[in-house]
Amino acid sequence: MPAIVLVGAQWGDEGKGKATDLMGSDVDYVVKFNGGNNAGHTIVIEKDGKREKYALHLLPSGILTPTCTPIIGNGVVVDLAVLFEELDGLEARGVDTSRLLVSANAHIIAPYNRVLDKVTERFLGSRKIGTTGRGIGPTYADKMARNGIRVQDLFDEKILRQKVEAALAYKNQILAKIYNRRAVEVDEVMDELLGYAERLRPMVADTSLVLEQALNEGKTVLLEAGQATLLDVDHGTYPFVTSSNATAGGACTGSGIPPTRVSTVIAILKAYSTRVGEGPFPTELNDANGEFLRKTGAEFGTTTGRPRRCGWVDTVVGRYATRINGVTDFVVTKLDVLTGLDTIPICVAYDVDGVRHDEMPVNQTDFHHAKPIYEDLPGWWEDISTCRTFEELPANAQAYVLRLEELIGARVSAIGVGPGRDEIISRHSLLGA
Ligand code: GDP
Ligand code: IMO
Ligand code: MG
Repeated sequence: MPAIVLVGAQWGDEGKGKATDLMGSDVDYVVKFNGGNNAGHTIVIEKDGKREKYALHLLPSGILTPTCTPIIGNGVVVDLAVLFEELDGLEARGVDTSRLLVSANAHIIAPYNRVLDKVTERFLGSRKIGTTGRGIGPTYADKMARNGIRVQDLFDEKILRQKVEAALAYKNQILAKIYNRRAVEVDEVMDELLGYAERLRPMVADTSLVLEQALNEGKTVLLEAGQATLLDVDHGTYPFVTSSNATAGGACTGSGIPPTRVSTVIAILKAYSTRVGEGPFPTELNDANGEFLRKTGAEFGTTTGRPRRCGWVDTVVGRYATRINGVTDFVVTKLDVLTGLDTIPICVAYDVDGVRHDEMPVNQTDFHHAKPIYEDLPGWWEDISTCRTFEELPANAQAYVLRLEELIGARVSAIGVGPGRDEIISRHSLLGA
C-alpha cells in the first residue's frame, strides 16, 4: 500500500487524533511529521464497557493501536521531558509503547527555547501570536538558522557541548539583555539533555529508511499532521500560525517519504470552525451561537485548556484546504454538535470592502476585513449519535453534508457523530482505491 497523508483543514482540533485512531488497525505505521507538544489530540476508547479518554501531545495517535508502529519523524520538534512523561503515562495505563521509533534528525526543544517562547510572547503584548508556550517557534527558528540540536547529537557529548555553547553564547545575550532574564548555564542544559540519552537510544532510528522498507513490503503508512492548513507557516494566516508545515507537502519533508509514494490525502474538517490563539477568523461568533458551539462541542484546548473561539463552517477555507493539500477525501467531524439549531449558516464566500471573494484573499489585510457571505440551511433536532449509515441521518443533516461536499470540492468519506471510536459514519474507504 502507498502512503496516506492526514491533515487538518482549518485551524486545528478538527478531530485528527480520532480519525487516525479509527484507521489504526488498518495501518502498519503512523508517523507524526511536524510540530511537537503544541498539538493535543483527544482519543476516546471504549474499554470493558467504559469510556477511556487519552490526550496525546507529542506521540502519534497510532500508539494506542497494538499492531501499529508509531514514528516521530524528522520534521518534529521533541521535548524529551514531555516524551518520557507521555510514555510513562501510557505505560501506567497498560498501553505498550515499546514500538516507538524516533528520527535521529528530529530537533530537540532545548530548555532555553521554552523560556524564549514565553518571554517573546509577553514582550509582544497586544501583538502576541497566542502560542502554546512550548518552545515550538524558537526551536524551528534555530533549525532554520542552523543553531539547532538534533536527537543524534545526544550521542556525541563533544558535539552536543559545542552546539549548546554556541547556542547559549547568543541566546543568553537575548535572555539577559532584552528580556532581563537569568542566563542559562551550559552544564545545566547538558545535564538535562544527557539525562535522557540512554533511555532514548533504543528508540532512535533512520526512520526514512524504515519507512521506505515498509512501503516496499506493501505496508500501509499513515502520515499524521499536527495543527492544520491555516496554521501552516507558508500557507496559513501568517504570522498567526505555527512554525512548521502542517499541510500535505510537509508530510514528505517531515518524514523522508517522497511525494510519489503518497496516494491519498485525507483532510479533517469540523462541521463548524474553531481557532485557539490570535489571528483572523471571518466566521467567528461572539454571540449565543458561538457559546452554543463552545459548550455543546466542549471546545476547550486539549493542550492549554484555553476556550476555543467558535464560528460557522467556512467553505472558502475548506476549498483552500482542498487546493493546498490535494485532498482526496474529507472526514467531517462533530456533525452531532450542530443538532438542535433552527438554521445552520455555511460561509460560501467573503465580502471584502464590497468585493466578493470566492477564494482566499491573497492579501492578509483583506482576510482580516473579510465578512462572510452565508447560505442558510435548515437544521435538525433528532439525536444523530447512533446513526451509522448516511441514510439514517435526518434529511437536513444529509443535505448539510452534501452541500459542504459540493462547496469544498472533494468527497466526504466519513462523518463523525460523537467522540467515541465507533461514532462514525463511513461512506467510502479511507485507505484509497
Ligand atoms: P485534533 O487536535 O485534531 O486531534 O482534535 P482535538 O482532539 O484537539 O479536538 C477534537 C475534539 O473533538 C476531541 O475532544 C474529540 O474527542 C472530539 N471529537 C472528535 N470527533 C468528534 C465527533 O464526531 N463528535 C463529537 N461530539 N466530538 C468529536
Ligand atoms: P492540534 O494538532 C490548535 C496554535 C496556537 C497559536 C499558534 C502558534 O491539536 O490541532 P505554537 O505554540 O505552535 O507556536 O502556537 O498555533 N496552535 C494550535 N491550535 N490546535 C493545535 O494543534 C495547535 N498547535 C498550535 O494556539 O495560535
Ligand atoms: Mg488538538
